[in-house]
Amino acid sequence: MTSITTSAGAVSAPGARDLAIEAVEVTKRYGDFTAVDGISFAVTRGEAFGLLGPNGAGKSTTMRMIAAVSARTSGQMRVAGLDPETEGPRVRARLGVIPQQDNLDEELTVRENIIMYGRYFGLPRRFLLAKADELLEFAQLTHKASARVEDLSGGMKRRLTIARALVNEPEILLLDEPTTGLDPQARHVLWDRLFRLKESGTTLVLTTHHMDEAEQLCDRLVVVDHGTIMAEGSPAGLIREHSTREVLEVRFGMDRNAQLGAELEEVLGRAGDTATGYSHIEVLPDRLLVYAAHAEAALGAIHASGHRPMTSLVRRSSLEDVFLRLTGRTLVD
Ligand SMILES: Nc1ncnc2c1ncn2[C@@H]1O[C@H](COP(=O)(O)OP(=O)(O)O)[C@@H](O)[C@H]1O
Ligand SMILES: [Mg+2]
Repeated sequence: MTSITTSAGAVSAPGARDLAIEAVEVTKRYGDFTAVDGISFAVTRGEAFGLLGPNGAGKSTTMRMIAAVSARTSGQMRVAGLDPETEGPRVRARLGVIPQQDNLDEELTVRENIIMYGRYFGLPRRFLLAKADELLEFAQLTHKASARVEDLSGGMKRRLTIARALVNEPEILLLDEPTTGLDPQARHVLWDRLFRLKESGTTLVLTTHHMDEAEQLCDRLVVVDHGTIMAEGSPAGLIREHSTREVLEVRFGMDRNAQLGAELEEVLGRAGDTATGYSHIEVLPDRLLVYAAHAEAALGAIHASGHRPMTSLVRRSSLEDVFLRLTGRTLVD
């Protein structure tokens, strides 16, 4: 990882020009509590970069430091080559920010929300009138232009928040849990819009505790837990590094899973890993996760040993498995 050179306050590391964001050993404390604990990462221009982690991991705190609305306790940061702490207004002018909680003006219409927001950036009214139409179309809200915000669905509000954040034509878009709380269909509409932004060259930095969202949207991500980075890579790379290709999920009933876990470990361990590519078993309250490159073969070995699971499911490994491997916990709500 490149590092920031502090002499004369300039970034002089090789390739630093291509970095949208660089964080080096960034820490945030609230009193005695450390919310962000010395994290370092770099986001390349045009990349979709994610912070994936459970509630309380420090994702929103990190986003607020990037967005120049919260001061660091220590460490260094550059956003579009600028220090958000000393050059807040210039940084904010180049960012689009979608906070975890929508903060739209409920009193105004959909269209007025975009125009008013643009006024904060000092953008001329004539520019904003045209821009609002363009953004409403992008957000698929043209038919709602004159509606009150309070009459919008959750997905529409989220799309309006994104449209509004684009009013200053930002080079970097910060999205804090862009689709949390939305139904699956509304999430897919939003993901489609974000894909388009990515294709148009906007740098996306998003936080999520949904592994499917991270897999869908992120070129690269860091897995965060308790304010620290547990791993970094592409979704596929992280899965390759920290999990097996496939997973077999078996259920024997709540009261039997733990005991069966130990028995199956022995069965699969004894069978050897050449046919199954067996790695290990995770025991969850409601099911066992058998990590094996060839999950069908692992199921065959389990059946051959005389064990009869109530249900079995073969699937590909996901970032959920990566998180479980790294932290011993599941990511889900
Ligand atoms: N203003 C604050 N004062 C004290 N603690 C805070 C404050 N903001 C966040 N925290 C704590 O910092 C931790 C990280 O919070 P946050 O960054 O919101 O996590 P995430 O967005 O990953 O869910 C949490 O334990 C939270 O309670
Ligand atoms: Mg948060």
